[in-house]
Amino acid sequence: MPKLPALLCCTCTALTLALAPPSVLIVGGTGRIGTAVAIHLLQRRPELQITLAGRSAERGRAAAVEVAAEVAAEAADCGFLELDYRDAAAMRAACEGQDAVVHVAGPFVGQNKLEPLKAAIASETPVYVDVSDPLEYIDEAKALDARKTSALLCAGAFPGFSNVLAVEAAHLLGEPVKDLNFSYFTAGLGGSGAINLDITNYGFGPPVPRIVAGEATRTENYAGTDFGTIAYDGLNAECWAWPFPEAATTGEFLKITGSSRAGMGTAPAIWNTVLRLMVAVVPRKWWSSKRFSEGLARFSEPLVRVTDAFVGEAHAMRVDVSSATSERSVAAVQRHDSFRRCVGQSCAEFVLDALDQATPGVALPEERYADRAPRERILARLSTTPGTTGYRVG
Ligand SMILES: NC(=O)c1ccc[n+]([C@@H]2O[C@H](COP(=O)([O-])OP(=O)(O)OC[C@H]3O[C@@H](n4cnc5c(N)ncnc54)[C@H](OP(=O)(O)O)[C@@H]3O)[C@@H](O)[C@H]2O)c1
Ligand SMILES: *[C@@H]1O[C@H](CO)[C@@H](O)[C@H](O)[C@H]1NC(C)=O
Repeated sequence: MPKLPALLCCTCTALTLALAPPSVLIVGGTGRIGTAVAIHLLQRRPELQITLAGRSAERGRAAAVEVAAEVAAEAADCGFLELDYRDAAAMRAACEGQDAVVHVAGPFVGQNKLEPLKAAIASETPVYVDVSDPLEYIDEAKALDARKTSALLCAGAFPGFSNVLAVEAAHLLGEPVKDLNFSYFTAGLGGSGAINLDITNYGFGPPVPRIVAGEATRTENYAGTDFGTIAYDGLNAECWAWPFPEAATTGEFLKITGSSRAGMGTAPAIWNTVLRLMVAVVPRKWWSSKRFSEGLARFSEPLVRVTDAFVGEAHAMRVDVSSATSERSVAAVQRHDSFRRCVGQSCAEFVLDALDQATPGVALPEERYADRAPRERILARLSTTPGTTGYRVG
């Protein structure tokens, strides 16, 4: 029989382990989306132990101060870890002991792009969530075998929340889906980092993944064209096609018989006109070149910053599904006063949901939330975040 002090000690350790607040590592946590994720996590669960990770210690300090200034006084302070996620060994060490790993250090391309997910799987981290969007990243990520990790890809606002809205709209339709349209609006950069300008520009280069006449395909010379004015319940804004993966992944998931497309637009409206004109004259292969896309982004950034100061950072999205067997259609619309907050909050809610209820495997939001009960649970979370200014399905 063990001695009483030893027994007590063991019990205490076990209790402390069971009661220790969950720990969350945010890779890219020092960025605009990363700090928004941290703020929302701490607002919802002040006891969480959060570590912001990035390459610059200076940025890390500033980010920790920014987060602390916004959360309740009782919330734990964020830690900072200097980390390059492309370093496999460092990434693996960073995952040890974490309950969740969040990856928001886009653009999810290039060498060692999958290290955060691979490290989370190898260290059996219970929860992994990222806000990826390139289709080739998704394909490679989905080929990984995660037996102990509940991994969710593309889990921001769009893709992310929007994928779940599409499944919900199709469910309300209750008939086979013909067309599926995703339309997004962001005022200026929506409070996100300048990297998002580069990403937008690259997107004009390659063919766009989508469904046409029930078949998965890639449409050439399509980004920056098509669409028109979209009604977001009280806000009308222009929209043009862009290679968001959900046009392909959610379209396939819903087995649509017609076509899918995804696109976005911005404010002030003049940017839409400038982009359309540029897309019409600049060869597609220039957009695909890093030099051109990043050069243009750096050139336009000061102008974007100036206009951002008066257009704000509002966000709106709309998902439309139409029936293959009748004239019916269903729309879902969501609006928020800040794009950056909405992306961060959506990502954070996907993390909190998985901490409560982990589902091992690597999945997209439409797959993980395919069943009605988990979908209602996540939509209740996503549609009630602070700053939400509109939400309806049907
Ligand atoms: N699904 C959605 O709804 C959605 C919407 C908007 C954005 N996004 C994604 O979110 C990403 C982040 O956007 P953001 O506005 O937050 O950009 P950001 O402000 O530039 O933040 C990116 C952060 O990642 C860190 N980082 C970059 N490379 C790293 C590396 N190799 N190792 C560790 N940390 C690294 C950067 O810090 P250091 O440079 O100091 O390392 C920076 O703090 C975008 O690239 C985009 O892919 C998704
Ligand atoms: C989706 O967009 C296409 C192309 O503009 C349009 O023909 C179709 O009516 C739209 N479908 C829905 C359900 O909004």
